[in-house]
Amino acid sequence: MAPPPLSRILVILLVLLVSAGAGADSCTDDDGGHRSHQTRHARIFSFGDSLTDTGNALRILGDRAIISRPPYGETFFGRPSGRASDGRIMIDFIAEAMGVPQPTPYLLAGKTAADFRRGVNFAVGGGTALDPGFFEGRGLKIFVPVSFRNQTAWFKNALQRLGSVHEQRNVTATSLFVVGEIGVNDYLIGLLGNRTLSELKTVFLPRIISAIRSAVTDVIAAGACTVVVPGAIPLGCEPELLTLYQGRVGAGGYDPESRCITSLNDLAELHNRELRRMLGDLRRAHSGSGTTTTSIVYADLYRAVTDIIVSPGRYGFRDRPLVVCCGRGGGAYNFDMAANCGAPGTKACADPSAYVSWDGVHFTEAANRRIACSVLGTLRLTTQAGRCRIGCDCD
Ligand SMILES: *[C@@H]1O[C@H](CO)[C@@H](O)[C@H](O)[C@H]1NC(C)=O
Ligand SMILES: *[C@@H]1O[C@H](CO)[C@@H](O)[C@H](O)[C@H]1NC(C)=O
Ligand SMILES: *[C@@H]1O[C@H](CO)[C@@H](O)[C@H](O)[C@H]1NC(C)=O
Repeated sequence: MAPPPLSRILVILLVLLVSAGAGADSCTDDDGGHRSHQTRHARIFSFGDSLTDTGNALRILGDRAIISRPPYGETFFGRPSGRASDGRIMIDFIAEAMGVPQPTPYLLAGKTAADFRRGVNFAVGGGTALDPGFFEGRGLKIFVPVSFRNQTAWFKNALQRLGSVHEQRNVTATSLFVVGEIGVNDYLIGLLGNRTLSELKTVFLPRIISAIRSAVTDVIAAGACTVVVPGAIPLGCEPELLTLYQGRVGAGGYDPESRCITSLNDLAELHNRELRRMLGDLRRAHSGSGTTTTSIVYADLYRAVTDIIVSPGRYGFRDRPLVVCCGRGGGAYNFDMAANCGAPGTKACADPSAYVSWDGVHFTEAANRRIACSVLGTLRLTTQAGRCRIGCDCD
């Protein structure tokens, strides 16, 4: 085969240069300088599990979902709202602080371009990072058959409806992407199925990180300029797991300061280290000429939660922060696997705003607000006024 003429090669090179430049430019401010996050985000696209879901799992499961019953939602919405809390969750506070609309749950959205322009929430309570086949192949029972792959498929579907690629990019470049938290259910499913920590660390963990990597890569390919990736929460501080392992916490015991299970927190910390390492790789892979890169930010939920648990009084919570607000009563943590919040015989505490854990797995609105404040404080996504608006400490 004869070599292509030089002129052809030059044309191809030029086209490549121009398109690479255009792609990178879409993530730069007009002044070409520091991106001011505050003005660039017109909406949120979010992915994840029950820590982020605002209605998708409720849509899938209907009244089989625990969160479909009172007292879920009692503090803020006055009815079960599709959120696994007594009120708002982190994403609600982030949207409010940024002054953008609440992202509509994908399964409730009207599926028109106008709906998607207001932002969409793809998170599904009970959802996993890994595909159902991974668990089924190991004889493990999943909560809901939705993996991260479903969520990114939904996203691509939603994007198509926005029109031309140019219009799609106009939307993605001016959106905040919140990819996670995801993975906690994968570990929970393993733990409830009596899998060893060693299997979770060597088999589950690398696959979970890789599933998150694919999702982040997908949104960057779609034109995202700001991607926030929340890490795992401290699993060892979950009242459900504290109850499950009571009397058999094994090596490491309880952390003397937080009273959480050391070995489970170690798993979450390992996950977060590997997550940050992967995000570092992605950052290098997607760095342009300095001012034109996609910004990929890690959100430290682990730290936000442990700070509250170690010093509850400092943040306005009562002592014994590992005791659940809504349950049947009794036990060290007021958690009973056989009677989750919302089941007959359970009730909420008188003052949920003093509690960290709402139902043994999910946080109260008060804790979610603190977590959002902590995340927003480190991410520089909002103005001080925005943080004041949601009740964070501010001058
Ligand atoms: C998730 O994806 C799988 C595989 O593509 C599909 O079979 C399943 O129906 C999807 N689930 C939902 C709820 O869309
Ligand atoms: C991008 O969208 C905004 C409104 O959402 C519109 O005003 C602007 O003209 C669009 N820009 C391009 C290049 O399409
Ligand atoms: C896990 O182990 C516990 C305690 O040994 C046992 O009661 C439970 O049935 C086991 N669960 C599964 C799914 O094997």
